[in-house]
Amino acid sequence: MTVRVGVIGVGTMGQDHVVRLQRRVNGAEVVALADMDHARLEAVAASVPGARTMASGDDLIVADDVGGVVIASWGETHEQYVLSALAAGKPVFCEKPLAPEAEACQRIMDAERAGGRRLLQVGFMRRYDQAYRALFRTLREGALGAPLMIHCAHRNPGVPSFYAGGMPITDSAIHEIDIVRWLLEQEISAAQVLRPRRASRARPDLQDPLLLLLEMCDGTLVDVEVFATATYGYDIRCEVVCESGTVALGDGSRVVVRNGGARSDRVPDNFQERFRDAYDAEFQEWVNGVERGQTGGPSAWDGYAAAVAADAAVASLQSGERVSVSMLARPRFYEPTVAQPVLMNR
Ligand SMILES: NC(=O)c1ccc[n+]([C@@H]2O[C@H](COP(=O)([O-])OP(=O)(O)OC[C@H]3O[C@@H](n4cnc5c(N)ncnc54)[C@H](O)[C@@H]3O)[C@@H](O)[C@H]2O)c1
Repeated sequence: MTVRVGVIGVGTMGQDHVVRLQRRVNGAEVVALADMDHARLEAVAASVPGARTMASGDDLIVADDVGGVVIASWGETHEQYVLSALAAGKPVFCEKPLAPEAEACQRIMDAERAGGRRLLQVGFMRRYDQAYRALFRTLREGALGAPLMIHCAHRNPGVPSFYAGGMPITDSAIHEIDIVRWLLEQEISAAQVLRPRRASRARPDLQDPLLLLLEMCDGTLVDVEVFATATYGYDIRCEVVCESGTVALGDGSRVVVRNGGARSDRVPDNFQERFRDAYDAEFQEWVNGVERGQTGGPSAWDGYAAAVAADAAVASLQSGERVSVSMLARPRFYEPTVAQPVLMNR
């Protein structure tokens, strides 16, 4: 059975997902597109045979032939579209952030729970990356003992001019916030941001680089370097220091070149290159779940937990103080062990 997908927001990420759904994911067909930028919408639609353009995201959500909704518009618009998709009873994939504020994530959780079944997956694609998955398995095998510290780095070659203020947290470190919760199966209890010497090229409205410290509920300490203008490539690092050893992401290059007395390998250009296979796996799992009538993957709770921790980190970026993370208790509905009822196939 083919899942008929509608995509809202056809900018960088939305276009990437449209191509993925058409060419690299089995069992999906893109049937409808919406974007408030009508010129862009028409240009993208011209390269998607069989997809029609919709006047608005809300029209797309309620269209009879749309069986699954992908939201890749700007973060502030996510809540409205997710709530509409939940009200229509449609499976929905929402790019991160689920919503910029924790209260909005709470409203989404309330709406999903009121419907009595999971319909929402949030786009934390690192959980589908083979290297992070190998790291997760190594920790579970137990030979290294308990994790004590995690060192992460999130380096971009550069960032657009609108990337400013809290975006090193809300746009970049949000991925580390999610992945360390997933790796450790622990929530974050406090955050603090340290401001190293600024790169000379950093704009005045951007603290670059910065160091984010996260305290996990069991005492594990995580440091995340965010360096938005690192220039040399897109470099993601993660090393877990355990009682009796360490485990780290490999460099990920498929080949190493030895030449002229030097050894080199490739640093990805951007997140699309580094995480391409992870995005593909993430969407394949989403499509399979929609087909089976069972949504899995990162949940509204994960979107909420990341938003609360990010809020604390942004507050610390402003104040310089350590900020406690204050969260709701996790509803039983979002416990990983609770089986979800199976939906009708669409
Ligand atoms: N998972 C990841 O690694 C990853 C990477 C990049 C971006 N993202 C997320 O994807 C989302 C989109 O980011 P992007 O980089 O593609 O942005 P973008 O600006 O390139 O594209 C966003 C598109 O959404 C459209 N849009 C905005 N508001 C809309 C509305 N109300 N209704 C319909 N269309 C609307 C815009 O016109 C634009 O075409 C963001 O939430 C971003 O955080 C996730």
